[in-house]
Amino acid sequence: MATINGGLPKQNGGDPSKLHSNADLSPQSVTDHVHAVNAASDERTKFLFTKLVDHLHDFVRETKLTTDEWMSTIKFLTETGKISTGVRQEFILLSDILGVSVLVDAINYPTPPGATEAALLGPFYTEDAYQLQKGDSIASEGKGDYLFVEGRVLDTQGKPIVGAVIDAWETDGTGLYDNQYVDRERPECRGKFLSTEDGSYAFGAVIPVSYPIPNDGPAVRILNALGRHPYRPAHLHVMIQAPGYEKLVTQLYFKGDPYLMSDVVFGVRTSLIVDPEKVKDEALTVSRGFKNGSKGHAYVKHDFVLATVEEAKEARKDAVVSDISKLKIGN
Ligand code: BEZ
Ligand code: FE
Repeated sequence: MATINGGLPKQNGGDPSKLHSNADLSPQSVTDHVHAVNAASDERTKFLFTKLVDHLHDFVRETKLTTDEWMSTIKFLTETGKISTGVRQEFILLSDILGVSVLVDAINYPTPPGATEAALLGPFYTEDAYQLQKGDSIASEGKGDYLFVEGRVLDTQGKPIVGAVIDAWETDGTGLYDNQYVDRERPECRGKFLSTEDGSYAFGAVIPVSYPIPNDGPAVRILNALGRHPYRPAHLHVMIQAPGYEKLVTQLYFKGDPYLMSDVVFGVRTSLIVDPEKVKDEALTVSRGFKNGSKGHAYVKHDFVLATVEEAKEARKDAVVSDISKLKIGN
């Protein structure tokens, strides 16, 4: 935006006689006056607040924001704060549904060439998943339709990564994570595995289902006002860590899901969509650890490719603008 008066003096300590006049501000001049009194010594802080004030003021001017709209925004943010707790983060949800979270992720975790794309961590991760053996199921019997997932963890040169920790979590067949149950006693539909000598991993699970984001808070009211549905397509969360490699937080999505192209939090990457094979073979179903062979199961084969820490650093190099000299003030 074109600022009006780029040459205002910076705020000077606490001596009121030395401060420039803040009086008689106009809708145009107020922006430069706010910049002038913001005299952060840290360059990044200065940069962020200059941009924030520019964009906020432009928003108010361009929309001619009414006092009622401003007040209802304040009320909305107050409610968002009030409903947030240590385990319920309505501000993050707000950021998610407005596309801010994926934007921050895209800037901070650009995909290095050849590596698996990242996806949102989401609010349902817990650290207490049990360490399981290759082939075990993360879901107890009765939690949903059977799914078997296997593949390898590789580096960007196609070499196996041995001993990578694969942490997987998902909804049960009703679309709920274990930590959405008030009577949760132990981890369910989540588990940790180690990749073996050839980089391979395998585990049983249930077919996750699409679910709505929490519908009792202010975030969902925004969706209603904007005529949007509250659903995430079914997905399986995976976090993979190995020494020397960038942590990968990602999700697998399932072909055919009705919400695949309209994810409420904009998380879907087409490279992460899998097409499960329907396996009817009873013996194979049982050999993969499922109790009721006659139910058959869905089968997904998927390799994950991790970037080294150096490859990730390289990809990130120019992603965050921290240089104040790139900021145009006063023109
Ligand atoms: C999830 O993937 O679990 C999730 C992400 C953002 C908002 C709500 C849920
Ligand atoms: Fe999720």
